[in-house]
Amino acid sequence: MFFHRFLFLFFILTITLIQSKKLSSGPEINVTKHLSFPNFNPNQDITLLGSSSISTQSFCIQIPENNLQFSAGRALYSSPIRLLDPNTQTPASFTSTFSFQIQSAPGKSDPVSGGLSFIIVPDEFTVGRPGPWLGMLNDACEDENKVVAVEFDTLMNPQFGDPNDNHVGINLGSIVSETVINVSSFGIRLNDGNVHRAWINYDGYKKFLEIYLGPDGITIPARSVYSGNLDLSPYLNEYMFIGFSGSTGNNHTQIHSICSWNFTSVSRGFLRVPSTESCESKIAVDNDENAPVPSKTPSSFYIFVAVVVLVLLIMINLYLNSKRKGKDYSDENVVVSKENQRPCPPNRARKFSLAEISSATRGFGELQILGNDSRSVTYKGTFLSGCNVVVKQFSSSCVSDKRRMIKEVKAVAKIRHPNLVAIRGWCFDHQESIVVYDFVPNGSLDKWLFGFGVLPWTRRLKVVKDVAEALSYLHLKELAHKNVKPSSVFLDISFRALLGDYGFVMSAIESSRFESLISQKVDVFEFGILVLEVVSGRGRRSNPGELDLLDLAWALHESDEKGKLVDRRMGPVVNPDQAIRVLEVGLMCTLNDNKGRPNMEEVVEYLNFERPMPELPASRPVSLFPYSSTTGLCSGYSCSPFK
Ligand SMILES: *[C@@H]1O[C@H](CO)[C@@H](O)[C@H](O)[C@H]1NC(C)=O
Ligand SMILES: *[C@@H]1O[C@H](CO)[C@@H](O)[C@H](O)[C@H]1NC(C)=O
Ligand SMILES: *[C@@H]1O[C@H](CO)[C@@H](O)[C@H](O)[C@H]1NC(C)=O
Ligand SMILES: *[C@@H]1O[C@H](CO)[C@@H](O)[C@H](O)[C@H]1NC(C)=O
Repeated sequence: MFFHRFLFLFFILTITLIQSKKLSSGPEINVTKHLSFPNFNPNQDITLLGSSSISTQSFCIQIPENNLQFSAGRALYSSPIRLLDPNTQTPASFTSTFSFQIQSAPGKSDPVSGGLSFIIVPDEFTVGRPGPWLGMLNDACEDENKVVAVEFDTLMNPQFGDPNDNHVGINLGSIVSETVINVSSFGIRLNDGNVHRAWINYDGYKKFLEIYLGPDGITIPARSVYSGNLDLSPYLNEYMFIGFSGSTGNNHTQIHSICSWNFTSVSRGFLRVPSTESCESKIAVDNDENAPVPSKTPSSFYIFVAVVVLVLLIMINLYLNSKRKGKDYSDENVVVSKENQRPCPPNRARKFSLAEISSATRGFGELQILGNDSRSVTYKGTFLSGCNVVVKQFSSSCVSDKRRMIKEVKAVAKIRHPNLVAIRGWCFDHQESIVVYDFVPNGSLDKWLFGFGVLPWTRRLKVVKDVAEALSYLHLKELAHKNVKPSSVFLDISFRALLGDYGFVMSAIESSRFESLISQKVDVFEFGILVLEVVSGRGRRSNPGELDLLDLAWALHESDEKGKLVDRRMGPVVNPDQAIRVLEVGLMCTLNDNKGRPNMEEVVEYLNFERPMPELPASRPVSLFPYSSTTGLCSGYSCSPFK
């Protein structure tokens, strides 16, 4: 084990050395990327997010997809584009030309308003807020200031500094435009229903931006609507996604269509020196570039030594591993395995090496931490592909039976359901127990329930139903979640709830079949509490002097005042019968197992009004398991009735 640690450290050290070397060496090249969409059809590499579609009649991207008020959508090119050379902080030069049309929605008399923007964003799965935000910025975006947009805005928002309802704006990491241009003075009306064409040219070397706007056609207008110096580098990551976003205002509709798009970028890069090259020729390259030779020569030497030692170590390790095969679950132990280099279908979970995870989380960096508890630390990670993930690192003292945990992780990873957060992979190298999940952009339910804003009733009801569906499916597959609570429920861009953050706790019970049966019953109990929390908008743990939520709910049931539990912040829009029904389902889930606690399949039917609900006992059954609010270290069942 010590040997593994050492090998790992060495590996990281070598990678770092090679990286630091790579940064400054090799001849400079220009990397060009060209995209051309004369029109759009659904088979192209365009990712549609939120309310957006590709019309099969007009072959245009359409945002929003129908006459929706207050909605937002994005259409992005599916692969990231290199837009910054991180070593020299030189932004790429690019040209984006597109034709677009903004018109009122057919058959609608609503006032037209909204806006469209060409965007450069850090990820390919979030949509910004609707209304004045133009789908540009959102609440979940981790890299909030890494956004560049050129907006074609037909909504006037004085609070964002808009001059009128017909302007072009340049936005750098903020919804408040850096520069706004009144295009009325160019004789252009953005939402007159005509097809316009925009040319956005950026020179990354001179850091100079030009925007032209004119009628659709190949001739660039003589006069630009904007030209000026602009440094985009603070707002760019090396790889960014490009495309369009748009939104409609509150009480307004408007259709934004993009019908043709050409994009070309040229970014500065440095050719990697081929590994077969001799030390002398490397130095020669450095000399050509007038680089300071003395500081480079020793590092080349160190790299050479490091590589030789690394190769030796790997060979020894492979040899030891192959000797151990059979005794140990050696496939979990390979550091640089062939398998890792084989490309995997994107949706299949796989094993990650510790080096991959470490690089994705910037060496488990503090800035990447999303949260932690007594059992684990959770990090945000980004793989080289640009794919964002959540990395959960379990504390080794909490994993008593690693072999069974691995089995369980793999079993859950095979399951796919729209309401379950997908497991991307795992890593059980060395002492580590790490599970890698998909990153869900809108954050976890607890933040929405107990944090900012008020989640409306329709969304809460949907969350309860979504989680019930997820659990029901898991149980059907003879698995259990073992960690049902608001912070394990995540919301995606359309506020669909996904259950994630599985418990994976190994109890002392031997038979896994029996264990999962018991755990399923605990899941139902915990789901009941979750329902009470969602409806009441308060946490399960009480403030000092207040009744515990479960006690309170039963007390209100006994006095037939359940309506008092419904979160008053939601206002009168709540359908009271529905809310009471949902509360009753929640209470029923907390009944003693042999005294009427339903299974998840039944719960789903109750929530959908597909099955008559049995009467709840008039008062809280005495045999109800005591509800303790103590959290045991490493316990996944902190509040379970089986403690
Ligand atoms: C890359 O492009 C820039 C700008 O067009 C040019 O100045 C530079 O010489 C090019 N570099 C190479 C290596 O072609
Ligand atoms: C994109 O390029 C194609 C082919 O050169 C051209 O037909 C089309 O008009 C261009 N569209 C835009 C918006 O520049
Ligand atoms: C925008 O330009 C038009 C036409 O030149 C002018 O009438 C209008 O006052 C301008 N609006 C603002 C806010 O400057
Ligand atoms: C929509 O706009 C009309 C007219 O301005 C207003 O009377 C109505 O209350 C608005 N509706 C909503 C939902 O904001």
